[in-house]
Amino acid sequence: MRVSSTLALLGLVAMVAGNPSKPRNYDANDYYVLELDSSTSPDLVAARLGLRHEGQMAGLEGHHIFAGKRERHDVVTPVLHESKRRKRDLGGSDILEGVRFAQRQVPRKPWEKRALLPTRPTRPPRFYSDARQADLGLLQRQRHVMDTLSISDPIFDKQWHLLNTLQPGHDLNVTGLWMQGITGKNATVAIVDDGLDMDSDDLKPNYYAGGSYDFNDHRPEPKPTLSDDRHGTRCAGEVAAARNNVCGVGVAYDSKIAGLRILSKLITDADEALAMIYDFQHNDIYSCSWGPPDDGRSMDAPGILIKRAMLKGVQEGRGGLGSIYVFASGNGANKDDNCNFDGYTNSIYSITVGAIDRTGQHPYYSERCSAQMVVAYSSGAGDAIHTTDVGQNTCYDQHGGTSAAAPLGAGVYALVLSVRPDLTWRDLQWLQMDTAVPVNVETEEWQDTAIGKKFSHTFGYGKIDAYAIVEAAKTWKKVKPQSWYFSPWVHVNQAIPQGNEGLVIEHEVTADALKDANLERVEHVTVTMNVNHTRRGDLSVDLISPEGVVSHIATARENDQTNAGYDDWTFMTVAHWGESGVGNWKVIIKDGKVNEHSGTFVDFHLKLWGESIDAAKATKLPMPSEDDDKDHAKVISSTTTMTASTTVVTQSAEAPATLPSTVPTDQPDRPKIKPTSSGMAAAGSGVAPTETSAATQTGEAAPTTTDSNWISWLPSFGVSGKAQVWIYGAVVLIVAFCVGLVIWLFMARRRKLLNNPRDDYEFELLNEEESQGLNAGEKGVGTAGAKTRRTRGGELYDAFAGGSDDEDGFEEGYTDQETSRRTEIERRRLSDDGLEEEQRHVIGDDDDSDEEELDEKRHGQSSRAV
Ligand SMILES: *[C@@H]1O[C@H](CO)[C@@H](O)[C@H](O)[C@H]1NC(C)=O
Ligand SMILES: *[C@@H]1O[C@H](CO)[C@@H](O)[C@H](O)[C@H]1NC(C)=O
Ligand SMILES: *[C@@H]1O[C@H](CO)[C@@H](O)[C@H](O)[C@H]1NC(C)=O
Repeated sequence: MRVSSTLALLGLVAMVAGNPSKPRNYDANDYYVLELDSSTSPDLVAARLGLRHEGQMAGLEGHHIFAGKRERHDVVTPVLHESKRRKRDLGGSDILEGVRFAQRQVPRKPWEKRALLPTRPTRPPRFYSDARQADLGLLQRQRHVMDTLSISDPIFDKQWHLLNTLQPGHDLNVTGLWMQGITGKNATVAIVDDGLDMDSDDLKPNYYAGGSYDFNDHRPEPKPTLSDDRHGTRCAGEVAAARNNVCGVGVAYDSKIAGLRILSKLITDADEALAMIYDFQHNDIYSCSWGPPDDGRSMDAPGILIKRAMLKGVQEGRGGLGSIYVFASGNGANKDDNCNFDGYTNSIYSITVGAIDRTGQHPYYSERCSAQMVVAYSSGAGDAIHTTDVGQNTCYDQHGGTSAAAPLGAGVYALVLSVRPDLTWRDLQWLQMDTAVPVNVETEEWQDTAIGKKFSHTFGYGKIDAYAIVEAAKTWKKVKPQSWYFSPWVHVNQAIPQGNEGLVIEHEVTADALKDANLERVEHVTVTMNVNHTRRGDLSVDLISPEGVVSHIATARENDQTNAGYDDWTFMTVAHWGESGVGNWKVIIKDGKVNEHSGTFVDFHLKLWGESIDAAKATKLPMPSEDDDKDHAKVISSTTTMTASTTVVTQSAEAPATLPSTVPTDQPDRPKIKPTSSGMAAAGSGVAPTETSAATQTGEAAPTTTDSNWISWLPSFGVSGKAQVWIYGAVVLIVAFCVGLVIWLFMARRRKLLNNPRDDYEFELLNEEESQGLNAGEKGVGTAGAKTRRTRGGELYDAFAGGSDDEDGFEEGYTDQETSRRTEIERRRLSDDGLEEEQRHVIGDDDDSDEEELDEKRHGQSSRAV
């Protein structure tokens, strides 16, 4: 009774706070987000469009949600166009003039979790639990810490990432801070994920209901419901598991923890955007261990509403100091994936965290990129992260992937904010850049940056040292507000030479231009590019700063077969942190593969982001719009003087002298990164992709040639021509399958009859045996039957959740656009059966079999992955 009334009250609070407004019903309704002028009445707009006004989007001024009966088509856009046309032709006024932006909200597949399925054996080697191997001094330290802080958590001694007694120094170096009483008090981390088990005895003491919401099921609490909803709870345990007698402790075990559930079902951009700024005056840090698929060929970024939300977050969250977004770099390194092809990890507003294993080595999966800030500990070298799991008192010892690294970063930032709650989002990035500790300096690729730091595309600025960052934070002098310099669009329009040659484009940034831009020193650099190419994965791009620091902003990706090129894609680098920015910036694009696939470098746009000269003159960046980067011609025509200072040089391998010595020109088809010491990475990147290439190439032609002509007479379902192809294709397949099945059944029966010429007599006997067997083993068979069904459900869900090879196979051969259209249909199908079925398996009903099912999935996947 008490519980339910508390829940009701919480729900009421969430509603009153104007939060995700009314629960949505995507089966019955269509939803639209409209941005309105402040003078435009949402009610009048609703009346004009025949929709209901559902409320304003919390945190995003001017953005409103409207609902209407579910239709096949977008009913708003045509009306807006018509209104514009009428206004142009006939004049007059219309309430719709106040609509600045409109977007229909189509539920889409959620992003993928960045955990790794444990490989067999699931238990870590004995070595790691053998206390005799441990460093005696560190064992004493462990005893001392536990006694002094009254830590009696049963798996604390397994939490090597907090205090590693076997590999000295390979931990977060956090215990010294706890001894000073720095444990995350007054800081709040929101886990944006598949839920958070707030009833876990390890999370309950720190759970913050006010910052939590379930955007999948539209309820106030993010309680996991699917058997697969464990990821968020495990991440939460790493950050804020309480100091008690349950499992272990979090990095910031006195911080508050909230859960925002977005990964368990179809989701719209509007809901994901709301999640990213949910309760952003109290949720300080958003920990995100997910993103676009890490398959080495996806190139995907947050939609415009989510981009707006994240900008709002850094501008207005935490009382204007800025929300802290922490993202996992991604697990696709063995598939050549790179975190600069992910629009969340390469956002300047997020801190991207990769992984290292408990011996300090780069694990085969952790993605490299110039946008990666740091690394933190995770799975590899025979062990993983030990944390809390779903359940009242359940622990997990196999948490891994970059999914497990990012929350450790979030936990450390909670410690920082508990000491210095006045720091801005950029102060935190400065501190992290400044205090990260380089690892494997002798054996891996590292560069000296212009301000005397070391940067590596594999480890960013190094690994997180909690003690170092908090000590530095105590006396940190805050940086001035942000400013930026945007170059004009630099039109290149040149063919990209194949092989060792690179096309080098120089763009000079003058001291005066930076003064005009009020920019004192550089933090992030972004390059927005347009490149046409018939095989995107052949391309790689370097950015070289005037001070000679090299960022590999794009690397070649064997799996990336699409002919889409780079379409206004923005790459990011943190390697130029602290530079003045003045001088010649070089963009070098290469097509390392000599083959029939070629392309053209169309244009690019360089942006330097950093600290302002005069804080008083700093302004706020306007909210992004969908066509910010579209109007290339207009920008360039107004700044012809700037283009004059841009020189285009074709650089050949024969004359490398004019290139900075740091650019290797002799590795045509590999990212210009030294091979790692990890054998698995080398093997993985060489072998895995080749299998898929043939299938993709042949498959690519099929859907494009069919298009919509032969089906134009069929109903359109309100989807595009290509999607229709898939619908009808599916129908044809189903019909063919049914016909086949009937024939097969008929033949089987015929064969059976033929094999049993003594017909009826033996036929009956056989039947009897069969049914006897059935009855005798009823329980067993029943269970097996149920199991098969469940496993099928699981497979279905796996395919949905992505990352499985099944899906990979399934999606082979479609361009990205086709895939996204097709997956929309797929999503709907899955939402109708697979997911719903899966959802009925509520955790807690039969934990054992769920565990078994998970095990099966893991097993199945890890063996398939081999
Ligand atoms: C870890 O923290 C201690 C203080 O507890 C500090 O003296 C030390 O330099 C830090 N780093 C390492 C690698 O131990
Ligand atoms: C905790 O934060 C609140 C504001 O969110 C502030 O008023 C309070 O002083 C802080 N407490 C401590 C101990 O820092
Ligand atoms: C690049 O491709 C786009 C779209 O296919 C096309 O409009 C444009 O003209 C191409 N540009 C060049 C320089 O080839």
